[in-house]
Amino acid sequence: MNPSQTGVAPLQAGDIARRMLSAKAEQFTESVIREMTRLALKHGAVNLSQGFPDFAAPAEIKEAARKAISDDINQYAITWGAKPLRDAIAEKFERTQGLRVDPETEITICCGSTEAMMSSMMAIINPGDEIVVFEPFYENYGPDAILSGATPRFVKLRPPDWNYDERELAAAFGPHTKAIILNTPNNPTGKVFTRAELEFIRDLCVRWNAFCITDEIYEHILYDGAEHISMARIDGMREHTIVINGMSKTYSVTGWRVGWAIAPPEATQSIRKVHDFLTVGAAAPLQQAGASALHSPQSYYDKLAASYVEKRERLLKILSAAGFTVFKPRGAYYIMTDISCFPDPARFPAETRDVRFAKYLVEEIGVAVVPGSSFYNDARDGASQVRFTFCKREETLAAAEARLARLHA
Ligand SMILES: Cc1ncc(COP(=O)(O)O)c(C=O)c1O
Repeated sequence: MNPSQTGVAPLQAGDIARRMLSAKAEQFTESVIREMTRLALKHGAVNLSQGFPDFAAPAEIKEAARKAISDDINQYAITWGAKPLRDAIAEKFERTQGLRVDPETEITICCGSTEAMMSSMMAIINPGDEIVVFEPFYENYGPDAILSGATPRFVKLRPPDWNYDERELAAAFGPHTKAIILNTPNNPTGKVFTRAELEFIRDLCVRWNAFCITDEIYEHILYDGAEHISMARIDGMREHTIVINGMSKTYSVTGWRVGWAIAPPEATQSIRKVHDFLTVGAAAPLQQAGASALHSPQSYYDKLAASYVEKRERLLKILSAAGFTVFKPRGAYYIMTDISCFPDPARFPAETRDVRFAKYLVEEIGVAVVPGSSFYNDARDGASQVRFTFCKREETLAAAEARLARLHA
């Protein structure tokens, strides 16, 4: 039957889209960080936006991946992860954090820590649940909350030290709190949470019977004697903690997409079910290579941290010389900066300064960065900040230096 014969007005394209698309998906935009990488490519800019190394991964780890494929590790691994990798994660966690976990019941391998976080949230969140999120936050946590159905309660980390206000944090917890999301060492601020801070958070988690989901993906990238303490290690937190981690940053293989969640057995059962139906499993040969990567000697991690110390110093110098106010990170590989010192109200109006400034940098100066607003719930809170990453080769940093010098001019 022709639609005009029904007497019902045909739907317009916009109506169809509105009726068919998910209301959840409409609540967030595409990732600003990943969009900046696309803009960097489009404008031929030096990419200091997205946190992926532009240098080679360790030869031994690449060789292990090649060998895994030659050895025909080409079919699905067990859905919650290949045993050699789960065993290696348990061994490394005990070696570095002194905590023994059972690889049979407490570890789930996922497609990157991104999926480990999403699966964990979907595994524990019920309608009406709230999560506490420190901000600025790694931008995935916003959509993670929306997709899992949690209501976020944001608590500010304030520069220059990115400390939180204890009263503000305590007030964010309540009877509906299901979890707090922690990220230490922190992206984008470079904050490394101290034992005292973790214990304060512990007291709140225990009081309100909440989980702490702790993203520890930068655990080995530390400066100035900072120590990474896993929340799982804090007295009384073992049963409350879901540790999220992965290979991306520690082994410079962000494209391999291998991550994991370490959680108490009941939570793990739930995480494994969500994970199974979301992705079935991470790439089997790369899980196998992961098992050998995690057995790297301590010297590997020392060298990694030492190389990032140099890169941090280099970028701090470049940015200071170019006129940015810099916040020196104690961990991870980002530098948050304040751009209030570039006043040009016509070109960079205060409310959207970060976005306008980032656009100007990528299009006219030739350096891609991430606008601060993408790390905040209320865009205005990040309008005077942009984030740079320094997980790049010296040539890349030198090219950025030459281009940013034009800013000054
Ligand atoms: C804090 C944080 N968590 C998770 C990720 C993503 O990790 P993966 O590559 O394991 O999904 C990133 C990437 O930048 C990150 O900064």
